[in-house]
Amino acid sequence: MSVIKKFRITKIKNSKPLISLRKISLSFKKNHLILDNISLDISKGQVIGLLGPNGAGKSSLMNLITGVIKPNFGNIIINGEDITQYPVYTRTKKFKISLVPQIGGYFSDLSTEDNLNAVGEILIKDPKLRKMKVEELIFKFELDAVRKVEAKFLSGGMKRRLVISMSLLGDPEILLMDEPLAALDPQTIQMLQTIIIKLQSDYNLSILITDHQARDLLVVCDKAVILSNSKIVAEGTPSELMKNENATKYYFGDNFKFK
Ligand SMILES: Nc1ncnc2c1ncn2[C@@H]1O[C@H](COP(=O)(O)OP(=O)(O)OP(=O)(O)O)[C@@H](O)[C@H]1O
Ligand SMILES: [Mg+2]
Repeated sequence: MSVIKKFRITKIKNSKPLISLRKISLSFKKNHLILDNISLDISKGQVIGLLGPNGAGKSSLMNLITGVIKPNFGNIIINGEDITQYPVYTRTKKFKISLVPQIGGYFSDLSTEDNLNAVGEILIKDPKLRKMKVEELIFKFELDAVRKVEAKFLSGGMKRRLVISMSLLGDPEILLMDEPLAALDPQTIQMLQTIIIKLQSDYNLSILITDHQARDLLVVCDKAVILSNSKIVAEGTPSELMKNENATKYYFGDNFKFK
């Protein structure tokens, strides 16, 4: 495996949770529970992977944290404050939550640079600081060669890099990444894995990340949880999950190998 992560599990285990989901239940229709009594803690600087089959409720869980949807029961606590009823903009501004959405997340008809400028204008008031931030992100995400190219003409990997760079404009503390590795070639996946690991080590970001390629996801995670039939059926470090019978039964199957 070429992407190497320095695990910081012991340090993280001892820290207080930054986000706590407490006994969250969600249903869109009567008698159809999407999430049932879900509790999950995410510490500062921790990368948590969220695995589960299609329709398990992974994107819904992220939408609950951003505030796009509200739970039927349960609470969301950030830094000890109950934010369950806070609107999206308060959560974004006060708790610096940012989302890399499963689909889209950019303006198709704007260039790479103008996508960053458009969101930058909302998040960074000072034009000089904004320009500096945009240039820093263009450099870090190797987007200089395509800065004038309209987003609709970028490759899948470049679009993903653009969306991740846009998600960092407001210097988030909590980053929700919904399938950022989907449908990409192996080298692009490796590049993004390296970026995600650097986001953790350089900025101490707390990251909740989903993907269906469990092997690609587990490389970047300190811990992962498996959602199935509305519940968390297994959780632990990647190596703990490999030995977890529920993880095998509900998600990985018998032939899965991590390394
Ligand atoms: N706004 C909504 N209104 C009604 N049902 C919804 C809504 N959002 C999600 N659902 C339903 O909730 C369930 C969970 O959806 P969600 O998108 O969270 O799953 P997911 O785990 O992200 O799936 P995938 O792996 O396919 O992205 C699905 O059955 C979906 O149809
Ligand atoms: Mg989803």
